[in-house]
Amino acid sequence: MTDWLKVYAPATIANIGPGFDVLACALKEPAGDYVWARKRERPGVEILQILGDFGQLSYDVNKNTAGYAAQETMARYPGAAGVELKILKNELVPLGSGLGTSASSAAAAAYATALLYDARLNGDPSLERTVKKELVPICARAERIGITTSVPGVQVAQAEHSDNVAAALLGGFVLSNKRYAMELGTIPALQFTVFNPYKQLNRETNTYEPYAIRTAHARAALPYMVRLADAVTTLGHLGQLVYAIQTQNMHLFGAAIHDALVEPARAKKLMPWYQDVRRTALESGALGCALAGSGPSFFIVTPTMSPVLNGALIKTVNDALLAAGLEARVYTTPVDTAGARKV
Ligand code: HSE
Repeated sequence: MTDWLKVYAPATIANIGPGFDVLACALKEPAGDYVWARKRERPGVEILQILGDFGQLSYDVNKNTAGYAAQETMARYPGAAGVELKILKNELVPLGSGLGTSASSAAAAAYATALLYDARLNGDPSLERTVKKELVPICARAERIGITTSVPGVQVAQAEHSDNVAAALLGGFVLSNKRYAMELGTIPALQFTVFNPYKQLNRETNTYEPYAIRTAHARAALPYMVRLADAVTTLGHLGQLVYAIQTQNMHLFGAAIHDALVEPARAKKLMPWYQDVRRTALESGALGCALAGSGPSFFIVTPTMSPVLNGALIKTVNDALLAAGLEARVYTTPVDTAGARKV
């Protein structure tokens, strides 16, 4: 047995509007997840403890994104024996909030396992990013496991996606296309305000209930075919978004946050309140607004670090949510540029 190693990986926003399954960024807030890992001589991966998940996650490594990611990472290192894991989820970011919680655990577990077994991580610090990029496809497969085992009976096409895990591993904005993970950095002055609707009013019983949308359901709601014109619009916005990050242009960035392919279908089927709330945010001064990953969390971008404008916007958006019977946790946050790290 070795000592426990502790790794943190941030929460993430995937898609950022037009970048469905290919673009995401890491957040400073809300916090992501922690994974403790240590070597053991007995072969295989074992999850010893999971905290903060309200009993919702499986200890079976083939049904748990962190366990699966650790197992697949370990398989890369000949001679590696076993790993024990303890997982601490941020209990304020429930499963099904859209903030990349399963990706955060997977990234932390994969990176912790690599730190235990990959000799490159004990030497040249510049190799850290190389190793992290190698872990992206492993963690993307873990995401598929998370989705396909989370909601029995839901058929999900293309469950594997690397957007959240790439950002959780590498930090900043990351564009991921199949086996390539491309770091885009960030716009330092950029400020996201993330709304995590966590309670919804049941109008029949007049009581508030927890509000979560599992990614499996959000992916099952997607159209099988899309209109060419919508694809062109969305591609244009994705290109603009990448250009805006590269040129540090917040206004171009905000204006590019528009998705004609995925958000409309999800909003219509699963989040009927969303389009009104988004319209209110944009009419009240937000530069951009989109769902965080598969929702129901969403974010707005504000033009400056102005607390006055942001404060007024938060109130306006919260009022619009309340009118729809929702209450939200709100986080105003810069981008996390470090990604998964030993702490
Ligand atoms: N890109 C994925 C989706 C992220 O939107 O389904 C899931 O959190």
